[in-house]
Amino acid sequence: MTILAIETSCDETAAAVSRNGREILSSCVASQADIHELYGGVVPEIASRRHIECVVQIAERAISDAGIDMTSLDAIAVTYAPGLIGALLVGVGFAKALSFALDLPLVPVHHIRGHIAANLIAFPELEPPFLCLVASGGHTQLIDVRDYTDFRILGETRDDAAGEAFDKCARMLGFGYPGGAELDKLAQGGDDKKYPLPRASIDGSSLDMSFSGLKTAVINLIHNIRQKGEEPDAKSVAASFSAAVSDVLVPRAIEAAKTAGRSKLAVAGGVAANSRIRSDLTRAAAKHNISLYLPPIGLCGDNAAMIACQAYYELLAGNTAGSDLNAYATMPCDELVR
Ligand code: KG4
Ligand code: ZN
Repeated sequence: MTILAIETSCDETAAAVSRNGREILSSCVASQADIHELYGGVVPEIASRRHIECVVQIAERAISDAGIDMTSLDAIAVTYAPGLIGALLVGVGFAKALSFALDLPLVPVHHIRGHIAANLIAFPELEPPFLCLVASGGHTQLIDVRDYTDFRILGETRDDAAGEAFDKCARMLGFGYPGGAELDKLAQGGDDKKYPLPRASIDGSSLDMSFSGLKTAVINLIHNIRQKGEEPDAKSVAASFSAAVSDVLVPRAIEAAKTAGRSKLAVAGGVAANSRIRSDLTRAAAKHNISLYLPPIGLCGDNAAMIACQAYYELLAGNTAGSDLNAYATMPCDELVR
């Protein structure tokens, strides 16, 4: 089963070809980050236009890198939710046209289900059930992966996503968008106890999270220091901030795995690349006898390989769509609309 997948949910135009789910024949990503960096964040209209300019070439390249031609394809998959609506619609429109022209099934894939599937690519032996911590620029969730297409959200952020908070802190320290990875590098060698920052918890909802207070606290901290005509110790701000995010995510991920009765814990999304979170998770998982799955950094951020992999399982489950498929800016991964 050979699937071409298209991903245009945010600021990466991506296409990939998978064979029988976990074997990735090609994966191409055209990032727009340098364009959006000028504005300090993703400009939705610019993202949509850039997807239109790139999607055909990226899909062609994915097919040629895979060493196949269009006639070898068995299905066309596309990210249809959640994301920037205009950006999603470019991919959905393109995938519909291709599936119609080639007379192939159209497989809609939820972006977060795709992020989780990055673990299936990285770890060929990994099978559900397992618990997954998803932390990206738009989502922070604890998801019980009961089966390949059966998910339950056990906890999530009530406000900002962890990645959003990382990007804000990075911006305050002078980095361009998205600054999470640079903040991570800066934190190396910083003192993670120098600046006390809050770790919020939600009353009566131990698996839910909040990052908006932490975001405000780090903004105030930096402002207050600058108002005195001084500069903060940027390395230690980065280290203290990373520790605060990790202290919210890691214990909840362990608790969620225990609550769901899972002995396997996977992580996904751009923030899963964070070195502090990865090392804290490694220690906590070992302490609690949980097998930890940390996908390589290249599979944490947005890509189409993860979509092509998840599409195989969606197709096996009969989750295909017609030419009336729509895109959705928001949609939980456990309640699909098609
Ligand atoms: O999953 P992703 O590529 O896109 C979304 O679906 O949102 O996640 C992007 C987010 C950004 O906020 C970025 O700053 C953050 O992941 N990120 C990191 C690191 N690498 C990427 N945050 C912290 N540490 C990192 N090493
Ligand atoms: Zn993503």
